Amino acid sequence: MTVTIVGSQLGDEGKGRVVDLYGDGADVIVRYQGGDNAGHTVVEGGTEYKLSLIPSGVIRGKIGVLGNGCVVNPATLFDEIDELKERGLDPDVRVSERAHVILPYHRVLDGIEEDAKEEDDLSAGTTGRGIGPTYEDKAGRRGVRIGDLLDPEVLRARLEYVVPQKRALAEDVFGIETGEEFDIDALYEQYREYGRRIEEEDMAVNGGSFLADRIDDGDEIMMEGAQGTSLDIDHGSYPYVTSSNPTTGGACTGTGLPPTAVGQGEVIGIVKAYLSRVGTGPMPTELGGVEGQTAGYTGGDPDSDEEQMATYIRDEGGEYGTVTGRPRRVGWLDIPMLRHAARVNGFTGLAVNHVDVLAGLDEVTVGHSYTLDGEELLTMPATTEKWGECEANFRTFDGWDPVDWSAVESWEDLPENCRTYLEYISDELGADIYCVGMGPDREDTLVLDSPY
Ligand code: IMP
Repeated sequence: MTVTIVGSQLGDEGKGRVVDLYGDGADVIVRYQGGDNAGHTVVEGGTEYKLSLIPSGVIRGKIGVLGNGCVVNPATLFDEIDELKERGLDPDVRVSERAHVILPYHRVLDGIEEDAKEEDDLSAGTTGRGIGPTYEDKAGRRGVRIGDLLDPEVLRARLEYVVPQKRALAEDVFGIETGEEFDIDALYEQYREYGRRIEEEDMAVNGGSFLADRIDDGDEIMMEGAQGTSLDIDHGSYPYVTSSNPTTGGACTGTGLPPTAVGQGEVIGIVKAYLSRVGTGPMPTELGGVEGQTAGYTGGDPDSDEEQMATYIRDEGGEYGTVTGRPRRVGWLDIPMLRHAARVNGFTGLAVNHVDVLAGLDEVTVGHSYTLDGEELLTMPATTEKWGECEANFRTFDGWDPVDWSAVESWEDLPENCRTYLEYISDELGADIYCVGMGPDREDTLVLDSPY
Protein backbone atom coordinates (compact mmCIF):
# COMPACT_ATOMS: atom_id res chain seq x y z
CA MET A 1 0.00 0.00 0.00
CA THR A 2 1.07 3.59 -0.52
CA VAL A 3 0.52 6.71 1.53
CA THR A 4 1.19 10.03 -0.19
CA ILE A 5 1.89 13.15 1.84
CA VAL A 6 1.10 16.40 0.04
CA GLY A 7 1.39 20.02 1.13
CA SER A 8 -1.95 21.75 0.59
CA GLN A 9 -0.71 25.32 0.70
CA LEU A 10 2.61 27.01 -0.09
CA GLY A 11 5.09 24.68 1.56
CA ASP A 12 6.21 24.60 5.18
CA GLU A 13 2.95 23.04 6.34
CA GLY A 14 4.82 20.62 8.60
CA LYS A 15 5.04 17.66 6.24
CA GLY A 16 8.21 16.43 7.94
CA ARG A 17 6.32 15.82 11.18
CA VAL A 18 3.59 13.82 9.46
CA VAL A 19 6.09 11.80 7.43
CA ASP A 20 7.89 11.12 10.64
CA LEU A 21 4.72 10.18 12.51
CA TYR A 22 3.19 7.84 9.96
CA GLY A 23 6.58 6.84 8.57
CA ASP A 24 6.77 4.37 11.46
CA GLY A 25 4.30 2.22 9.57
CA ALA A 26 6.23 2.48 6.30
CA ASP A 27 9.22 0.48 5.13
CA VAL A 28 10.33 2.82 2.38
CA ILE A 29 10.00 6.60 2.14
CA VAL A 30 10.36 8.13 -1.29
CA ARG A 31 10.57 11.72 -2.39
CA TYR A 32 9.04 12.29 -5.81
CA GLN A 33 9.98 15.86 -6.76
CA GLY A 34 12.08 18.85 -5.85
CA GLY A 35 15.61 18.86 -4.56
CA ASP A 36 17.52 20.53 -1.76
CA ASN A 37 15.00 23.37 -1.67
CA ALA A 38 12.83 21.47 0.81
CA GLY A 39 13.51 22.20 4.43
CA HIS A 40 12.47 19.46 6.82
CA THR A 41 12.91 19.74 10.52
CA VAL A 42 12.38 16.62 12.56
CA VAL A 43 12.70 16.69 16.32
CA GLU A 44 13.46 13.32 17.80
CA GLY A 45 13.95 12.95 21.55
CA GLY A 46 14.93 16.60 21.87
CA THR A 47 17.46 16.36 19.01
CA GLU A 48 16.73 18.47 15.97
CA TYR A 49 17.57 17.23 12.49
CA LYS A 50 17.40 19.59 9.54
CA LEU A 51 17.40 17.99 6.12
CA SER A 52 16.81 19.58 2.76
CA LEU A 53 17.17 16.65 0.38
CA ILE A 54 17.19 13.17 1.81
CA PRO A 55 13.89 11.78 3.11
CA SER A 56 13.62 12.41 6.83
CA GLY A 57 12.43 8.82 7.42
CA VAL A 58 16.04 7.63 7.24
CA ILE A 59 16.47 9.04 10.74
CA ARG A 60 14.22 6.21 11.91
CA GLY A 61 16.04 3.54 9.97
CA LYS A 62 13.72 3.48 6.94
CA ILE A 63 14.99 3.19 3.39
CA GLY A 64 14.93 6.66 1.82
CA VAL A 65 14.59 6.90 -1.95
CA LEU A 66 15.03 9.96 -4.14
CA GLY A 67 12.70 9.24 -7.03
CA ASN A 68 13.24 10.03 -10.70
CA GLY A 69 11.16 13.22 -10.33
CA CYS A 70 13.75 14.72 -7.97
CA VAL A 71 16.68 16.91 -8.90
CA VAL A 72 19.70 15.86 -6.89
CA ASN A 73 22.65 17.96 -5.84
CA PRO A 74 25.22 15.28 -4.98
CA ALA A 75 27.15 17.72 -2.78
CA THR A 76 24.09 18.17 -0.55
CA LEU A 77 23.29 14.46 -0.72
CA PHE A 78 26.67 13.47 0.69
CA ASP A 79 26.84 16.36 3.15
CA GLU A 80 23.54 15.27 4.67
CA ILE A 81 24.49 11.59 4.72
CA ASP A 82 27.88 12.37 6.28
CA GLU A 83 26.32 14.59 8.92
CA LEU A 84 23.86 11.89 9.95
CA LYS A 85 26.72 9.40 10.08
CA GLU A 86 28.71 11.75 12.31
CA ARG A 87 25.70 11.84 14.61
CA GLY A 88 25.76 8.07 14.90
CA LEU A 89 23.10 7.12 12.33
CA ASP A 90 23.51 4.79 9.38
CA PRO A 91 21.16 6.21 6.72
CA ASP A 92 20.09 3.92 3.87
CA VAL A 93 19.57 6.25 0.89
CA ARG A 94 18.89 5.15 -2.70
CA VAL A 95 18.79 7.44 -5.71
CA SER A 96 16.92 6.80 -8.90
CA GLU A 97 19.22 6.53 -11.91
CA ARG A 98 16.63 8.58 -13.80
CA ALA A 99 16.79 11.53 -11.39
CA HIS A 100 18.45 14.64 -12.78
CA VAL A 101 21.59 16.14 -11.32
CA ILE A 102 21.96 19.74 -10.18
CA LEU A 103 25.30 21.07 -11.37
CA PRO A 104 27.06 24.20 -10.08
CA TYR A 105 26.09 26.19 -13.18
CA HIS A 106 22.42 25.60 -12.39
CA ARG A 107 22.82 27.45 -9.12
CA VAL A 108 24.64 30.32 -10.82
CA LEU A 109 21.94 30.57 -13.48
CA ASP A 110 19.18 30.42 -10.85
CA GLY A 111 20.68 33.52 -9.20
CA ILE A 112 21.24 35.54 -12.34
CA GLU A 113 17.85 34.81 -13.81
CA GLU A 114 16.14 35.84 -10.59
CA ASP A 115 18.10 39.10 -10.64
CA ALA A 116 17.16 39.68 -14.26
CA LYS A 117 13.47 39.09 -13.52
CA GLU A 118 13.44 41.40 -10.53
CA GLU A 119 12.96 44.54 -12.60
CA ASP A 120 9.69 43.17 -13.97
CA ASP A 121 8.49 41.80 -10.62
CA LEU A 122 8.67 38.30 -12.07
CA SER A 123 11.24 36.76 -9.75
CA ALA A 124 9.81 33.86 -7.76
CA GLY A 125 12.07 34.43 -4.77
CA THR A 126 13.65 31.04 -5.35
CA THR A 127 15.79 29.25 -2.83
CA GLY A 128 18.74 29.69 -5.20
CA ARG A 129 19.44 25.98 -5.25
CA GLY A 130 19.37 25.66 -9.04
CA ILE A 131 16.07 23.81 -9.05
CA GLY A 132 14.41 25.65 -11.97
CA PRO A 133 17.43 25.58 -14.32
CA THR A 134 17.89 21.84 -13.70
CA TYR A 135 14.25 21.07 -14.57
CA GLU A 136 14.64 23.31 -17.61
CA ASP A 137 17.49 21.14 -18.82
CA LYS A 138 15.48 18.01 -18.07
CA ALA A 139 12.63 19.26 -20.26
CA GLY A 140 15.16 20.48 -22.85
CA ARG A 141 16.65 16.97 -23.06
CA ARG A 142 20.09 18.22 -22.19
CA GLY A 143 20.19 17.25 -18.52
CA VAL A 144 22.67 15.03 -16.71
CA ARG A 145 21.11 12.13 -14.84
CA ILE A 146 22.34 10.13 -11.87
CA GLY A 147 22.87 7.14 -14.20
CA ASP A 148 25.21 9.30 -16.32
CA LEU A 149 27.50 9.88 -13.35
CA LEU A 150 28.18 6.15 -13.29
CA ASP A 151 29.38 6.02 -16.89
CA PRO A 152 32.53 8.09 -17.62
CA GLU A 153 31.98 8.26 -21.37
CA VAL A 154 28.36 9.30 -21.15
CA LEU A 155 29.11 11.88 -18.47
CA ARG A 156 31.90 13.42 -20.55
CA ALA A 157 29.68 13.53 -23.66
CA ARG A 158 26.79 15.13 -21.81
CA LEU A 159 29.00 17.81 -20.29
CA GLU A 160 30.73 18.55 -23.57
CA TYR A 161 27.36 19.17 -25.17
CA VAL A 162 25.71 21.22 -22.47
CA VAL A 163 28.39 23.22 -20.69
CA PRO A 164 29.39 25.45 -23.65
CA GLN A 165 25.70 26.36 -24.06
CA LYS A 166 25.44 27.29 -20.41
CA ARG A 167 28.65 29.30 -20.57
CA ALA A 168 27.40 31.20 -23.59
CA LEU A 169 24.10 31.87 -21.86
CA ALA A 170 25.83 33.23 -18.77
CA GLU A 171 28.42 35.27 -20.64
CA ASP A 172 26.64 36.43 -23.77
CA VAL A 173 23.05 36.78 -22.57
CA PHE A 174 23.52 37.71 -18.93
CA GLY A 175 26.97 39.28 -19.32
CA ILE A 176 28.66 37.66 -16.33
CA GLU A 177 32.17 36.28 -16.07
CA THR A 178 32.17 32.52 -15.62
CA GLY A 179 34.52 30.38 -13.54
CA GLU A 180 34.97 26.75 -12.50
CA GLU A 181 31.21 26.19 -12.44
CA PHE A 182 31.32 26.24 -16.23
CA ASP A 183 34.56 24.29 -16.74
CA ILE A 184 34.05 20.90 -18.37
CA ASP A 185 37.18 19.25 -16.95
CA ALA A 186 36.59 20.47 -13.41
CA LEU A 187 32.95 19.40 -13.52
CA TYR A 188 33.83 16.03 -14.99
CA GLU A 189 36.37 15.26 -12.23
CA GLN A 190 34.04 16.34 -9.45
CA TYR A 191 30.92 14.57 -10.74
CA ARG A 192 32.75 11.36 -11.66
CA GLU A 193 33.89 11.29 -8.07
CA TYR A 194 30.29 11.56 -6.91
CA GLY A 195 29.41 8.80 -9.36
CA ARG A 196 32.09 6.55 -7.90
CA ARG A 197 30.78 7.09 -4.41
CA ILE A 198 27.20 6.38 -5.49
CA GLU A 199 28.48 3.14 -7.04
CA GLU A 200 30.65 2.16 -4.09
CA GLU A 201 27.78 2.67 -1.67
CA ASP A 202 25.38 0.89 -4.01
CA MET A 203 22.93 3.78 -3.93
CA ALA A 204 21.73 3.90 -7.54
CA VAL A 205 18.44 2.12 -8.25
CA ASN A 206 16.01 1.74 -11.09
CA GLY A 207 13.46 3.58 -8.94
CA GLY A 208 10.16 2.38 -10.39
CA SER A 209 11.06 -1.29 -10.38
CA PHE A 210 12.78 -1.04 -7.00
CA LEU A 211 9.56 0.32 -5.49
CA ALA A 212 7.29 -2.08 -7.37
CA ASP A 213 9.36 -5.02 -6.08
CA ARG A 214 9.05 -3.71 -2.57
CA ILE A 215 5.28 -3.47 -2.92
CA ASP A 216 5.19 -7.05 -4.27
CA ASP A 217 7.12 -8.11 -1.19
CA GLY A 218 4.41 -6.54 0.99
CA ASP A 219 6.26 -3.38 1.97
CA GLU A 220 4.44 -0.17 2.79
CA ILE A 221 5.59 2.82 0.75
CA MET A 222 5.29 6.41 1.82
CA MET A 223 5.63 9.11 -0.82
CA GLU A 224 6.79 12.42 0.51
CA GLY A 225 5.93 15.55 -1.45
CA ALA A 226 7.99 18.68 -0.98
CA GLN A 227 6.73 22.29 -1.26
CA GLY A 228 2.94 22.57 -1.67
CA THR A 229 0.00 22.61 -4.06
CA SER A 230 0.07 26.35 -4.72
CA LEU A 231 3.77 26.08 -5.61
CA ASP A 232 3.02 23.35 -8.18
CA ILE A 233 4.20 24.31 -11.66
CA ASP A 234 0.82 23.33 -13.17
CA HIS A 235 -1.66 23.87 -10.38
CA GLY A 236 0.02 26.64 -8.41
CA SER A 237 0.34 30.39 -8.77
CA TYR A 238 2.47 30.37 -11.91
CA PRO A 239 5.09 31.88 -12.38
CA TYR A 240 5.60 32.20 -8.60
CA VAL A 241 6.04 28.47 -8.25
CA THR A 242 8.65 25.78 -8.05
CA SER A 243 9.48 23.83 -11.21
CA SER A 244 7.95 20.46 -10.36
CA ASN A 245 4.63 18.83 -9.34
CA PRO A 246 4.21 18.53 -5.58
CA THR A 247 0.59 17.45 -6.20
CA THR A 248 -0.48 13.81 -6.09
CA GLY A 249 0.01 13.27 -9.83
CA GLY A 250 3.70 13.97 -9.29
CA ALA A 251 3.85 10.96 -6.99
CA CYS A 252 3.24 8.71 -10.02
CA THR A 253 5.47 10.38 -12.58
CA GLY A 254 8.14 11.11 -10.00
CA THR A 255 8.48 7.55 -8.72
CA GLY A 256 7.54 5.25 -11.58
CA LEU A 257 4.63 3.79 -9.64
CA PRO A 258 1.32 3.74 -11.53
CA PRO A 259 -1.66 5.97 -10.63
CA THR A 260 -3.47 2.86 -9.49
CA ALA A 261 -0.82 2.22 -6.82
CA VAL A 262 -1.14 5.79 -5.59
CA GLY A 263 -4.93 5.89 -5.94
CA GLN A 264 -5.50 2.65 -4.07
CA GLY A 265 -3.60 4.11 -1.14
CA GLU A 266 -4.21 7.20 0.95
CA VAL A 267 -3.44 10.80 0.16
CA ILE A 268 -2.95 12.97 3.22
CA GLY A 269 -3.15 16.72 2.81
CA ILE A 270 -1.04 18.69 5.22
CA VAL A 271 -2.62 21.95 6.33
CA LYS A 272 -1.04 24.60 8.45
CA ALA A 273 -3.74 26.18 10.66
CA TYR A 274 -2.85 29.58 9.16
CA LEU A 275 -0.90 30.45 6.03
CA SER A 276 2.74 31.20 5.31
CA ARG A 277 4.60 31.89 2.11
CA VAL A 278 8.30 32.18 1.28
CA GLY A 279 8.86 34.19 -1.84
CA THR A 280 6.81 36.40 -4.09
CA GLY A 281 3.31 36.08 -5.54
CA PRO A 282 -0.23 36.95 -4.40
CA MET A 283 -1.56 36.03 -0.97
CA PRO A 284 -5.11 37.39 -0.49
CA THR A 285 -5.23 36.59 3.24
CA GLU A 286 -1.78 38.04 4.02
CA LEU A 287 -1.27 39.98 7.25
CA GLY A 288 1.18 42.86 6.89
CA GLY A 289 4.02 41.98 4.53
CA VAL A 290 7.71 41.20 4.10
CA GLU A 291 9.87 43.59 2.12
CA GLY A 292 11.18 42.14 -1.10
CA GLN A 293 8.50 39.42 -1.11
CA THR A 294 5.13 41.13 -0.75
CA ALA A 295 4.50 43.13 -3.92
CA GLY A 296 4.69 46.88 -3.31
CA TYR A 297 5.31 46.49 0.43
CA THR A 298 7.80 48.93 1.90
CA GLY A 299 7.11 48.36 5.61
CA GLY A 300 3.86 48.95 7.49
CA ASP A 301 3.04 50.72 10.74
CA PRO A 302 4.48 48.35 13.37
CA ASP A 303 1.82 49.52 15.86
CA SER A 304 -1.12 48.62 13.65
CA ASP A 305 -3.24 45.61 14.67
CA GLU A 306 -2.46 43.83 11.43
CA GLU A 307 1.31 44.18 11.70
CA GLN A 308 1.21 43.13 15.33
CA MET A 309 -0.83 40.06 14.46
CA ALA A 310 1.64 39.21 11.66
CA THR A 311 4.60 39.54 14.00
CA TYR A 312 2.84 37.50 16.68
CA ILE A 313 2.08 34.62 14.33
CA ARG A 314 5.53 34.76 12.70
CA ASP A 315 7.30 34.61 16.05
CA GLU A 316 5.00 32.08 17.72
CA GLY A 317 5.14 29.86 14.67
CA GLY A 318 8.88 30.27 14.09
CA GLU A 319 8.11 31.37 10.56
CA TYR A 320 11.61 31.75 9.26
CA GLY A 321 12.77 29.60 6.33
CA THR A 322 14.50 26.31 7.22
CA VAL A 323 16.69 26.50 4.13
CA THR A 324 17.19 30.23 3.71
CA GLY A 325 16.41 31.72 7.15
CA ARG A 326 14.20 34.34 5.43
CA PRO A 327 11.19 35.65 7.39
CA ARG A 328 8.08 34.04 5.92
CA ARG A 329 5.02 35.99 4.90
CA VAL A 330 2.07 35.05 7.10
CA GLY A 331 -1.69 35.31 6.84
CA TRP A 332 -4.98 33.72 7.76
CA LEU A 333 -6.04 30.35 6.47
CA ASP A 334 -7.10 30.60 2.83
CA ILE A 335 -10.03 28.22 2.32
CA PRO A 336 -10.43 28.73 -1.47
CA MET A 337 -6.77 27.67 -1.79
CA LEU A 338 -7.49 24.59 0.29
CA ARG A 339 -10.61 23.65 -1.69
CA HIS A 340 -8.47 23.81 -4.83
CA ALA A 341 -5.86 21.59 -3.17
CA ALA A 342 -8.46 19.05 -2.03
CA ARG A 343 -9.78 18.74 -5.58
CA VAL A 344 -6.40 18.52 -7.33
CA ASN A 345 -4.95 16.03 -4.88
CA GLY A 346 -7.96 13.96 -3.84
CA PHE A 347 -7.21 14.03 -0.15
CA THR A 348 -8.43 11.03 1.80
CA GLY A 349 -7.31 12.51 5.11
CA LEU A 350 -5.91 15.69 6.61
CA ALA A 351 -3.21 16.60 9.07
CA VAL A 352 -3.71 20.06 10.56
CA ASN A 353 -0.61 21.56 12.14
CA HIS A 354 0.28 24.47 14.40
CA VAL A 355 -3.08 24.88 16.17
CA ASP A 356 -1.06 25.85 19.26
CA VAL A 357 0.33 28.92 17.45
CA LEU A 358 -3.18 30.41 17.23
CA ALA A 359 -4.01 29.65 20.87
CA GLY A 360 -4.47 32.75 22.98
CA LEU A 361 -6.01 34.88 20.24
CA ASP A 362 -9.48 36.28 20.99
CA GLU A 363 -10.62 35.49 17.50
CA VAL A 364 -9.25 33.36 14.70
CA THR A 365 -10.01 34.48 11.17
CA VAL A 366 -10.15 32.59 7.89
CA GLY A 367 -10.59 33.70 4.30
CA HIS A 368 -13.77 31.72 3.52
CA SER A 369 -14.22 32.85 -0.10
CA TYR A 370 -13.02 35.54 -2.49
CA THR A 371 -14.75 38.36 -4.29
CA LEU A 372 -13.59 38.88 -7.87
CA ASP A 373 -15.35 41.33 -10.21
CA GLY A 374 -18.32 41.46 -7.87
CA GLU A 375 -18.76 37.69 -7.75
CA GLU A 376 -18.12 35.29 -4.91
CA LEU A 377 -15.55 32.56 -5.67
CA LEU A 378 -15.13 29.45 -3.57
CA THR A 379 -11.88 28.37 -5.17
CA MET A 380 -8.78 29.96 -6.74
CA PRO A 381 -8.99 31.37 -10.24
CA ALA A 382 -6.62 29.78 -12.76
CA THR A 383 -4.52 32.84 -13.49
CA THR A 384 -2.31 34.39 -10.93
CA GLU A 385 -3.20 37.89 -12.08
CA LYS A 386 -6.88 37.23 -11.31
CA TRP A 387 -5.91 35.60 -8.05
CA GLY A 388 -4.01 38.77 -7.17
CA GLU A 389 -7.21 40.76 -7.73
CA CYS A 390 -9.25 38.56 -5.39
CA GLU A 391 -10.38 40.03 -2.13
CA ALA A 392 -10.84 37.63 0.72
CA ASN A 393 -14.19 37.42 2.51
CA PHE A 394 -13.32 36.69 6.09
CA ARG A 395 -15.08 34.65 8.75
CA THR A 396 -14.14 34.71 12.38
CA PHE A 397 -14.16 31.96 14.95
CA ASP A 398 -13.94 32.35 18.71
CA GLY A 399 -10.35 31.74 19.81
CA TRP A 400 -9.08 29.11 22.24
CA ASP A 401 -6.72 29.40 25.17
CA PRO A 402 -3.45 27.55 25.33
CA VAL A 403 -3.72 24.27 27.24
CA ASP A 404 -1.16 21.70 28.26
CA TRP A 405 -0.91 20.30 24.74
CA SER A 406 1.15 17.32 25.85
CA ALA A 407 -1.86 16.20 27.91
CA VAL A 408 -4.23 16.24 24.93
CA GLU A 409 -4.86 12.61 24.11
CA SER A 410 -8.28 12.60 22.52
CA TRP A 411 -10.48 14.80 20.35
CA GLU A 412 -12.50 15.77 23.44
CA ASP A 413 -9.34 17.03 25.18
CA LEU A 414 -8.95 19.76 22.56
CA PRO A 415 -10.48 23.15 23.47
CA GLU A 416 -14.05 23.30 22.15
CA ASN A 417 -13.42 26.33 19.91
CA CYS A 418 -10.39 24.65 18.42
CA ARG A 419 -12.57 21.61 17.59
CA THR A 420 -15.11 23.90 15.91
CA TYR A 421 -12.33 25.41 13.79
CA LEU A 422 -11.00 21.98 12.82
CA GLU A 423 -14.48 20.66 11.99
CA TYR A 424 -15.02 23.62 9.70
CA ILE A 425 -11.77 22.85 7.81
CA SER A 426 -12.65 19.17 7.53
CA ASP A 427 -16.17 19.95 6.25
CA GLU A 428 -14.96 22.46 3.66
CA LEU A 429 -12.33 20.02 2.36
CA GLY A 430 -14.47 16.92 2.53
CA ALA A 431 -11.85 14.85 4.33
CA ASP A 432 -11.40 13.56 7.87
CA ILE A 433 -8.72 14.87 10.15
CA TYR A 434 -6.17 12.16 10.86
CA CYS A 435 -3.94 14.12 13.18
CA VAL A 436 -3.47 17.52 14.76
CA GLY A 437 -0.09 19.14 15.38
CA MET A 438 0.07 21.08 18.63
CA GLY A 439 3.79 21.78 19.08
CA PRO A 440 7.20 21.02 17.60
CA ASP A 441 7.82 17.62 19.18
CA ARG A 442 6.65 14.32 17.86
CA GLU A 443 4.78 13.81 21.13
CA ASP A 444 2.81 17.02 20.56
CA THR A 445 0.63 15.34 17.98
CA LEU A 446 -2.92 14.18 18.54
CA VAL A 447 -3.34 11.08 16.41
CA LEU A 448 -6.98 10.41 15.53
CA ASP A 449 -6.52 7.94 12.71
CA SER A 450 -3.77 6.19 10.81
CA PRO A 451 -3.52 5.62 7.06
CA TYR A 452 -2.09 2.13 7.69
P1 IMP B 1 12.66 27.09 -6.11
O1 IMP B 1 11.95 25.83 -5.75
O2 IMP B 1 13.96 27.28 -5.35
O3 IMP B 1 12.83 27.25 -7.59
O4 IMP B 1 11.73 28.32 -5.65
C1 IMP B 1 10.50 28.59 -6.28
C2 IMP B 1 9.47 29.08 -5.27
O5 IMP B 1 9.14 28.02 -4.39
C3 IMP B 1 9.96 30.23 -4.39
O6 IMP B 1 8.87 31.07 -4.10
C4 IMP B 1 10.42 29.52 -3.12
O7 IMP B 1 10.38 30.35 -1.98
C5 IMP B 1 9.36 28.42 -3.04
N1 IMP B 1 9.83 27.25 -2.29
C6 IMP B 1 10.68 26.30 -2.72
N2 IMP B 1 10.84 25.37 -1.77
C7 IMP B 1 10.09 25.73 -0.74
C8 IMP B 1 9.82 25.13 0.54
O8 IMP B 1 10.30 24.05 0.91
N3 IMP B 1 8.95 25.82 1.34
C9 IMP B 1 8.36 26.99 0.95
N4 IMP B 1 8.58 27.57 -0.22
C10 IMP B 1 9.43 26.94 -1.07
